Amino acid sequence: MGIILAITGASGAIYGIRILQELKKKGIESHLLISKWGKVTIETETEYTVEEVVKIADYYYNENNLAVSISSGSFKCDGMVIAPCSMKTLAGIASGYTEDLIIRAADVTIKEKRKLVLMTRETPLNAIHLENMLKLCHIGAIITPPVPAFYTNPKTIDDIVNQTIGRVLDNFNINTDCLKRWED
Ligand SMILES: Cc1cc2nc3c(=O)[nH]c(=O)nc-3n(C[C@H](O)[C@H](O)[C@H](O)COP(=O)(O)O)c2cc1C
Repeated sequence: MGIILAITGASGAIYGIRILQELKKKGIESHLLISKWGKVTIETETEYTVEEVVKIADYYYNENNLAVSISSGSFKCDGMVIAPCSMKTLAGIASGYTEDLIIRAADVTIKEKRKLVLMTRETPLNAIHLENMLKLCHIGAIITPPVPAFYTNPKTIDDIVNQTIGRVLDNFNINTDCLKRWED
């Protein structure tokens, strides 16, 4: 089937871009959404333009258009990843306030009992952020903040990003060569 991937306006747009590239490499259909502030972080933090990122995806949707297939539970897919996920989008999902297509698609993913993986990014976290994450964790969402693992002895930023997205894709049983598994 395929995966819905949303890039929102938290720091770490590169995580979403790298996930998109891995999905393409693996021949897995990608359905891309980018929020207004996600577009700003792509341009601010990475060497990619928004247009280049959009081209990697199989399908791209405007975040403000709710009248598209992925807005409905009848759309079949394997689940959704939000990478990175801002505290605003997290709050929208946790409260069921489906203001845009990203939050609506996440809401649908929850109601259809599909996998929802949120790469929530903010620091430090306040009680509202933590409560929203806990609420979604209780109903089965996977809360996976992009926290580097140092047991792999990363040498570059790419090493850190690859390890993190490898773990995200593991949730969908997508094996990549990004990931160094711990071996004793
Ligand atoms: C460069 C930049 C970095 C940001 N980093 C974060 C962040 O790490 N976490 C966060 O929750 N918001 C961050 N924000 C603020 C969000 O972009 C803002 O709350 C926005 O309303 C999120 O909307 P969205 O979820 O629709 O993308 C950042 C904004 C900018 C411009």
